Amino acid sequence: MIIKNNFEISLDKFINFALYDKKKGYYMQKSPFGRKGDFITAPNISRMFSEMIAIWILGFWENLGNPKKINLVELGAGNGEMMKILLETFKKFPMFFDSCNFLIHEKSLKLKKIQKDKLDKDKIIWITDLKEIKKFPTIFIANEFFDAMAIKQFIKKRDIWFERYVIFKNKKKAFFNEKSFNMSKFEKEIGYNISKNQKFIEYSLVGVSYLKKITDMIKKNNGGLLIIDYGYMEKKMKNTLKSISNHKHSNVLENIGKSDITHNINFYLFKKIIDQLGGLKDLITTQGSFLVKLGIKNRAEIISQNQNFSKKADIYYRLKRLIDDKEMGNLFKVMFIKKKNNKYKLGFN
Ligand SMILES: C[S@@+](CC[C@H](N)C(=O)[O-])C[C@H]1O[C@@H](n2cnc3c(N)ncnc32)[C@H](O)[C@@H]1O
Repeated sequence: MIIKNNFEISLDKFINFALYDKKKGYYMQKSPFGRKGDFITAPNISRMFSEMIAIWILGFWENLGNPKKINLVELGAGNGEMMKILLETFKKFPMFFDSCNFLIHEKSLKLKKIQKDKLDKDKIIWITDLKEIKKFPTIFIANEFFDAMAIKQFIKKRDIWFERYVIFKNKKKAFFNEKSFNMSKFEKEIGYNISKNQKFIEYSLVGVSYLKKITDMIKKNNGGLLIIDYGYMEKKMKNTLKSISNHKHSNVLENIGKSDITHNINFYLFKKIIDQLGGLKDLITTQGSFLVKLGIKNRAEIISQNQNFSKKADIYYRLKRLIDDKEMGNLFKVMFIKKKNNKYKLGFN
């Protein structure tokens, strides 16, 4: 995209440019994870996180009747850390390991290269389109995937809806603006009455499109989608747009392409969309509760045996970051979407 003076674009197009522009996009240029990066995700805090996801996947595979052919798709695999631990764990379960096609759907060429350097290239298939997935039961895992999707924002003022835009005064200086917006036309297009009892709306066209495509595959071929992301469950929507750079909040309109732009998922909206699609059921809980029910505390105890004090302290410090209510435990939610008649609920009961 070429930026000219007084160039204006809707917020979702701006986010898409800032994160995914082939030349200047944040995710296209660097690996943002870890202490030296801008933020850290659960798989990069501790391998225990991915080990719990592995246990959950194995349980789901059993629940599906141990299918001889199954797909596991990681959506947005970042630096490949979760997939690395999943593969290591599944090697101890050869029946599953041999039955499973491991797939990664990754948009960033930079991150794809990092994933290819880290992971067994013969075991993993990288896909650019979900249509490439074979028609077997499929388990989709999305850790911090949906929060990386561009959103639109709408603001209601004196009963009139406005859409948020970004205006580039010049290449370096940008500011927010609003334009009046035909909400009822938009609602007809998306097939959902999103503005009811709202004064502010965040909506991701691309996120909802993924939800629809994935749940369609689940309905046809069986399987499920596990979403782990920061978000809230209240109906009333709020402005959650933020930019993160060097582990701190930064200005969304500054350092464009050099800092992450993200938002909190409104799980109430996701649930409503799932209900409307029909034939599906969803379960939701907090990350802390999910990991504890899967046995993460026992796992910490096992791996800290025979370790010296500082190693033990490190294991428990990382455990706390993942499950404590004041850290990721409550802020992050886990949502499981599956076919209506499926009874699997490990981690949610
Ligand atoms: C916040 S990172 C999370 C990475 C990883 N799941 C983790 O937890 O460490 C978001 C990931 O989603 C990828 N991504 C964003 N939009 C995507 C899209 N439309 N298709 C595929 N991957 C996408 C990004 O490139 C990045 O790998």
